[in-house]
Amino acid sequence: MIPGTILLLLGISHCAFFFFAVPGDLGNQLEAKLDKPTVVHYLCSKKTDSYFTLWLNLELLLPVIIDCWIDNIRLVYNRTTRTTQSPDGVDVKVPGFGDTFSVEYLNPNKTFVGAYFFTLVEILVGWGYSRGEDVQGAPYDWRKAPNENGHYFCALRKMIEAMYKRYGGPVVLIAHSMGNMYTLYFLNQQSQDWKDKHIHSFVALGPPWGGVAKTLRVLASGDNNRIPVISPLKIREQQRSAVSTSWLLPYNYTWSPDKVFVRTPKANYTLRDYEQFYKDIGFEDGWFMRQDTEPLVYQMTPPGVRLHCLYGTGVQTPDSFYYENFPDRDPKIFYGDGDGTVNVESALHCQKWVNQQKQEVTLLELKGNEHIQMLSNETTLSYLKNVLFGL
Ligand SMILES: *[C@@H]1O[C@H](CO)[C@@H](O)[C@H](O)[C@H]1NC(C)=O
Ligand SMILES: *[C@@H]1O[C@H](CO)[C@@H](O)[C@H](O)[C@H]1NC(C)=O
Ligand SMILES: *[C@@H]1O[C@H](CO)[C@@H](O)[C@H](O)[C@H]1NC(C)=O
Ligand SMILES: *[C@@H]1O[C@H](CO)[C@@H](O)[C@H](O)[C@H]1NC(C)=O
Ligand SMILES: *[C@@H]1O[C@H](CO)[C@@H](O)[C@H](O)[C@H]1NC(C)=O
Repeated sequence: MIPGTILLLLGISHCAFFFFAVPGDLGNQLEAKLDKPTVVHYLCSKKTDSYFTLWLNLELLLPVIIDCWIDNIRLVYNRTTRTTQSPDGVDVKVPGFGDTFSVEYLNPNKTFVGAYFFTLVEILVGWGYSRGEDVQGAPYDWRKAPNENGHYFCALRKMIEAMYKRYGGPVVLIAHSMGNMYTLYFLNQQSQDWKDKHIHSFVALGPPWGGVAKTLRVLASGDNNRIPVISPLKIREQQRSAVSTSWLLPYNYTWSPDKVFVRTPKANYTLRDYEQFYKDIGFEDGWFMRQDTEPLVYQMTPPGVRLHCLYGTGVQTPDSFYYENFPDRDPKIFYGDGDGTVNVESALHCQKWVNQQKQEVTLLELKGNEHIQMLSNETTLSYLKNVLFGL
C-alpha cells in the first residue's frame, strides 16, 4: 500500500534576474504597502491604503513608473548589521504561504506571461490532489538569501509536520531553480531522524548548486532579459540590491579557479577576483553580501533524503562575457551547455552526492528543456507521477 503521498511545492525563487526568462517570470508573488517619506518621481505613490502586487505587475515596469517600482522593491544593505531592509515606509510581504496561487502565477491576473507552476499544479489536481491541502506552496522573499529568512524555515518545518500528520505520510518536496538551494539549506538544518520520518523525497528541477555564470553579468550591467522597454541599468539597481543575486555567483567547487567569467580590456575576472570585481563595478556592498552568504551551503552537504535531479541541457546558456565598455554596456556573451539559465556543470553537482549519502540519488537529463519550460514538459510530469505514486 502506498502511504498518502504529500506534495509540497517549494515556491521558487530567483532573483529578479531570471526575470522574464521566457515565457514566464520567476519568483513568487510579493505585495507591498507604502507610507513613504519621499518618492523618486512625482508620479510615484507615496502612500497606499492596502497591499498591492509589487511582483509581478507588468504595469509597474513601464517607463518612469519603473523608477517608483525599483524604489519600492529594492533592498537597502546595512554594513554594520549585515542585513537588508526595505526603504523607509515600504512594507513588503509574501502572500499565500500554504496556498498554491502565489507560485502558480506570478501575476495575480493569471495571464500567460506570469504562469509559473500552474501546469504542474493543474496536472497534480488531475491526479487527485487538492490545492492548498495536499499540494501546498511555500513562497518566500526571493530577494534575500536564507541567512535573512529564518522565520521562513520555521514555517516550512511546521507546514511539513502538519501535512505529515494530516495525511499520515511523508512529504515530497519539489523545488525549482534557487528553490533547490533553499531546500538544501533547510534539509541541512534538520536532524536525520526528522528527515527519515517526514520527507519522502526531494525532486530538484533545474538546480543551480554551483551558482550560475549569468550572475556576473546581472551584477555588472544588469539583465533586462531582452525586454526592450526595460533599461538594463535601471533593473540592475534592483538586481544588485537582492542579496540572493550575490549568493548565486559561481562557486569554486564547481568551476576551476582559473576560469575567466568576465573579460574586459583592462582585466580578467575569475571566481577568485570577486572582491576586485565588486569594486570595479562600483558595488562594494556586494562583496559583503557575498561573504555573508557564501558559507550557507558551501559545504554542499548532501540533503540526506532520496533525491531526484532533473536538469535541462542543449539550450545555449551564458558561460562568460566580454565587455568592450565595462560595466555599463551590454557584453558580448559566450555560451555553454545548460537550460538557458543554469549551466549544466552546476546542476551536475548531484552526481557527487551519489556516493556521499546512503539515500538514492537519481539524475535525469532533459535534453532541449529550457529552465522554465521544464516545469511543464511531459517527461518531467510523468517522472513526477512515478515519484508520487511509487510506480
Ligand atoms: C488585473 O485585472 C484587473 C481587472 O480586470 C485590472 O483592474 C487590473 O489593472 C489588472 N492588473 C494587472 C496588474 O494587470
Ligand atoms: C545600520 O545599523 C546600525 C545598527 O543598528 C545603525 O546604528 C545604523 O544607523 C544603520 N545604518 C544605516 C545607514 O541605516
Ligand atoms: C574556495 O573558496 C572558499 C571560500 O571562499 C575558500 O575558503 C577555499 O579555500 C577555496 N578553495 C579553493 C580550492 O580554492
Ligand atoms: C586576459 O586573459 C587573456 C587570455 O588568457 C589574455 O590574453 C589577456 O592578456 C588577459 N588580459 C589581462 C588584462 O590580463
Ligand atoms: C520534453 O522533454 C523531453 C526530454 O528532454 C524532450 O525529448 C521533449 O521534446 C520535450 N517536449 C517538449 C514538448 O518540449
